[in-house]
Amino acid sequence: MDYHNHFLSAAFAGVCLALSPLSAAESPAIRSGDVWNDTDGRAVDAHGGGMLFHEGTYYWYGEIKQGKTYLPDVNKSWGGTRVDVTGVSCYSSKDLLSWKNLGNVLPAVPGDPSSDLHPGKVLERPKVIFNAKTRKFVLWFHSDSLNYAAAACGVAVADAPAGPFEYLGSFRPNVATWPANVTDEDKKDPKTPLVRDFEKGQMARDMTVFVDDDGKGYLFTASEDNATLHISELSDDFLKTTGKYVRVFPGRMMEAPAVFKRAGKYYLIASGCTAWEPNAARSAVADSIWGPWKELGNPCQGEKAEITFQSQGTFVLPIAGKPGRFVFMADRWNKNNLPDSRYVWLPIAFEGEKPVLRWMDRWSPK
Ligand code: GAL
Repeated sequence: MDYHNHFLSAAFAGVCLALSPLSAAESPAIRSGDVWNDTDGRAVDAHGGGMLFHEGTYYWYGEIKQGKTYLPDVNKSWGGTRVDVTGVSCYSSKDLLSWKNLGNVLPAVPGDPSSDLHPGKVLERPKVIFNAKTRKFVLWFHSDSLNYAAAACGVAVADAPAGPFEYLGSFRPNVATWPANVTDEDKKDPKTPLVRDFEKGQMARDMTVFVDDDGKGYLFTASEDNATLHISELSDDFLKTTGKYVRVFPGRMMEAPAVFKRAGKYYLIASGCTAWEPNAARSAVADSIWGPWKELGNPCQGEKAEITFQSQGTFVLPIAGKPGRFVFMADRWNKNNLPDSRYVWLPIAFEGEKPVLRWMDRWSPK
């Protein structure tokens, strides 16, 4: 056996999973922070990504980060460090260790400056879900203008996991609709983002999509100038939102939402809002996806827990065929050279209902 794992059932009230770090001689392994090469020997280029498990294969989608890293513009046409949009990568694997590059499944459109896919726009946090009714693969991402003012969702659709994806366009969710949990107070002040954006639709930046056991889909977005998360119901075909949504964690500035379900409860791991700089992750649990959500604090323990081991989450992957086992997928952004950003993947343990992340130099998900 090239790995060890054991359940420590007695130590905590709930199920507690402990995965032993591998010794240096053992391989292959997940080595967070190293360059991960694909089967062609090139560095895996799939940032802010998400994972789809479909018919025995994992598909890892992410932002392609290539070319020059531009520093913030002195003329303030954009405020942050960035690279041009190249597209969305897709890699496949059977074991989460060996990754085959399936190509750019949503390439940039350099010829059309008005396109959401123009290199000068923003395309972040792509996530693909499979719709069992339509048999389509639906790609959602954060689509934005250079100055992040558009704050919209982009959607594309394909018949196969590696595309080609047809781009359907971008939109702001929840046009002229109040959230299900809105209060009279929330509706009062026209200067608040919720009221300000009522007619044109709510802002949607960092995002993820989640498919529940009953096949219903949900969209989680950093909304209201990133201050408050919105959870929106997806239409049956996963191509739109229905107008049913709630505001959660008001004013908590949560970004990089990652959602998973364990033993009937919904979990969220998110980051704070500090651009490419790492910060302390947060976790939360709920009995219903609509809430109420209860914050459980920083899931990280040990050295560098306060900066999520120098990373920012992007997705939580349930390991196929291993109920209760999850991988926290995160990005170690290199803001001086964004294409050299790395990946941090760690197994999630549980102490009672609280998800716990501890650093591991090397480990195997088998
Ligand atoms: C982060 C966000 C990333 C990206 C970055 C740009 O806060 O999580 O997806 O938008 O800011 O500075």
